[in-house]
Amino acid sequence: MTTVNLRAALETALETALATAGASASSAAVRQAAKPEFGDYQANGVMGAAKRFKQNPRELAAAVVEAAELDAVADLEIAGPGFINVRLKPEWLAATLNATRAPLTPTPPPRTVVVDYSAPNLAKEMHVGHIRSTIIGDALARAFEALGHRVIRQNHVGDWGTQFGMLVAHLADADGAETGGDDGLADLETFYRAAKVRFDGDPAFAERARRTVVGLQGGDPEIRAAWQRFIELSLAHCQSLYERLGTTLTPQDVMAESAYNDDLAGIIDALKAKNLLQESDGAQCVFLDQFKAKDGSVQPVIVQKSDGGYLYATTDLAAVRHRSERLAADRVLYFVDARQSLHFQQIFAVAAAAELSRPVVSFEHMPFGAMLGKDGRPFKTRAGGVVKLADLLDEAEERAAAQLAERDTITDPAERAHAARVIGIGAVKYADLSKNRTSDYIFDWDAMLALEGNTAPYLMYAVARVHSLLRRAEVDFDAALAFPIEAPEAGAEHQLAVALLRLQEVVVQLLEDGLPHHLCSFLYELANRYMKFYEACPILKSAEPLRSSRLALSARTAQTLTKGLDLLGIQTLDRM
Ligand code: ARG
Repeated sequence: MTTVNLRAALETALETALATAGASASSAAVRQAAKPEFGDYQANGVMGAAKRFKQNPRELAAAVVEAAELDAVADLEIAGPGFINVRLKPEWLAATLNATRAPLTPTPPPRTVVVDYSAPNLAKEMHVGHIRSTIIGDALARAFEALGHRVIRQNHVGDWGTQFGMLVAHLADADGAETGGDDGLADLETFYRAAKVRFDGDPAFAERARRTVVGLQGGDPEIRAAWQRFIELSLAHCQSLYERLGTTLTPQDVMAESAYNDDLAGIIDALKAKNLLQESDGAQCVFLDQFKAKDGSVQPVIVQKSDGGYLYATTDLAAVRHRSERLAADRVLYFVDARQSLHFQQIFAVAAAAELSRPVVSFEHMPFGAMLGKDGRPFKTRAGGVVKLADLLDEAEERAAAQLAERDTITDPAERAHAARVIGIGAVKYADLSKNRTSDYIFDWDAMLALEGNTAPYLMYAVARVHSLLRRAEVDFDAALAFPIEAPEAGAEHQLAVALLRLQEVVVQLLEDGLPHHLCSFLYELANRYMKFYEACPILKSAEPLRSSRLALSARTAQTLTKGLDLLGIQTLDRM
């Protein structure tokens, strides 16, 4: 049995009614009701349809209400200039909740989706700047899988370019004391800085670094081996952070820039064959009319430098071809900083012009804004340096541990340490995911760890509250999930029942727009509705069958919150 997409089902039914009423091919624009007093959903599309068909909107709304056939609906009410408010039948809500106990089921047909995310530059240690791509991309990868799609994760790490010559040269003679330990890379950030200082201050070293780059590019086996060792150490560092963060990336998902090296000459040939290449100052460029600078001149996309070297853009063109042809993607999503928007517009346009991909593949840049400090400036350490991701996660766990110590609700030390990790990491992730990714956001420890408001701790607390209720009732969680649900009472119970049916439609929407903050808002609303229900409706003191039904609604709330948080890569707790 599949879970209904309630919003879509209402929309389809009302669009059929619109067609019967003479407004064919109109969108009913069904949304969640703006206020629960208005009902459960509302259709906003009638006014637009009336305009198109030159009808009176309220008359058209009346005709739609007349024509609509909806088992689920108790009442359709016309409001204002032609909105239709939809109130669902309590018996239908109960029957639907009883028919499917899965809050989410796959939506065939399965598509192949490539998700490009995280992708740090391996020359340096992961820092806060990598957190958004890693967290948001991972949430989307999980959500696609939950709806039955085939996801191919691509961690397009930066492992090529001149910096690596400097690092490999430094690694070669800095092994040991100077860099702290035999791998010399215990602290990647310090290692990078030390290499850079030598590079800037010591001409002989700089010269060696340059020769190392040439050797690396020319395939010198010894230099290649040293580079390989550096890359492996740096990737191991990333992997340990992925695991701490609870992201699903594995070493198999790494498809580094260097993996495309052998394809780059072929990309230049393909561009040449389509007559897209033009030489400018010795460099090979593609000029497309749509990329005009302010002064009206066309901005080039440089694909090969005058010394024959290739660029970031060339590699991305090769990646487009790989994803279309070898990975057979239907959609390719890039979770990359908004500052790279022009880069991706150019890549997608050049790739289309050169026919590097099958025309049906959809390439989508999913940009995100910056993480800012409370002062509204880029998030930095007190000393003004970049904040290492590892340090940020340490602090999150420490703050969560301090909070738990103060509350003293968990006494077992191991359980408390586990809870501190779950809450600390969950709070950081949720704070990010709950903001519209397209804007910058302010990183605020106190706000993200608060037990009230749209935060991970609040949602976790709602889950823990259900578990504690079931413990008091001496009912097993899975047993409670299976108890039959009765037609809900008007008010808080009705509103909770409707929210329990909405995860499917919310996740379907998420796959379209890649905006996880809508999922967060939904989870927050569900938790709020549960808290109101908990206050308004007696559970343990009710007589059967109401008591069991309310325990079931409680268990279903925890199940749905847990599922939703799991899609976001956030764990929950039985006790908080
Ligand atoms: N390594 C790049 C950076 O740090 C991000 C790569 C994103 N993915 C891509 N296909 N360009 O800016």
